[in-house]
Amino acid sequence: MKGIVLAGGSGTRLQPVTSVISKQILPVYNKPMIYYPLSVLMLAGIREIQIISTPQHVDLFRSLLGNGNHLGIELDYAVQKEPAGIADALLVGADHIGDDSCALILGDNVFHGPGLYGLLRSSMAKLDGCVLFGYPVKDPERYGVAEVDSEGRLTALTEKPSQPRSHLAVTGLYFYDNDVVDIAKNIRPSARGELEITDVNRVYLEQGRAHLVDLGRGFAWLDTGTHDSLLRAAQYVQVMEERQGVWIAGLEEIAFRMGFIDAEACHHLGQGLAHTDYGAYLVEIAGRGAP
Ligand code: G1P
Repeated sequence: MKGIVLAGGSGTRLQPVTSVISKQILPVYNKPMIYYPLSVLMLAGIREIQIISTPQHVDLFRSLLGNGNHLGIELDYAVQKEPAGIADALLVGADHIGDDSCALILGDNVFHGPGLYGLLRSSMAKLDGCVLFGYPVKDPERYGVAEVDSEGRLTALTEKPSQPRSHLAVTGLYFYDNDVVDIAKNIRPSARGELEITDVNRVYLEQGRAHLVDLGRGFAWLDTGTHDSLLRAAQYVQVMEERQGVWIAGLEEIAFRMGFIDAEACHHLGQGLAHTDYGAYLVEIAGRGAP
């Protein structure tokens, strides 16, 4: 499976902080926002990942993350010329996807919770069509909304409905089989002039091949779209890391635990960050030997 992180958009709701910088580079507490979605793809075991950004910002991501070899992954970069919608990323990324399946994640989505690794792996293993991840929210009208029947089967998907018929938001993580590129090619722009990911998902739904995994309560899916939600996400990470002494979205640690890099490489990365707590943490886990 190939991965795509979409780090596009103009971040207008976060101006002026996003006036000269990409939203997905902004810190969520102690690391750039894009680390969080990237960590999800890595946890899913995906090692070939394309980062899609705007013409102005793509080089920032390239400088930050390079070719990914230090993390035992392969990163490449592509440009979305206009904010043409999430589904457009599947067209930009078509060559990267090739004839493989694909996990698409939005560069501003933060996921954290128990069992994420297992959930990702099991969803990938039985992929037929697409897998969407639902999350109960108070304000569903801001998102793609899913409706399910009494057995939890997906029955409807609506983008930002003014009268939502459920509280289940569709999060910004999507697993697709290879048909997704053709499906994305055939949808038309919405009223806001974008290729909507919900329209892609609806094609799978009509084919009876869209599956919803409910992340449920107890899980954290955090928004970073406004100053307040960005601050809350940072506070969440701070509280969890401080309390448990673990790192959320520590890419080097995940690379080590997933077996993408060995203990020696993890130690080396830790030494490179020796002046930070995270560096000392990496050296410590590397010292414990094989993950
Ligand atoms: C997009 C999708 C929406 C999804 C959301 C998740 O919304 O269109 O279906 O629920 O991401 O973050 P947008 O960011 O375009 O408002």
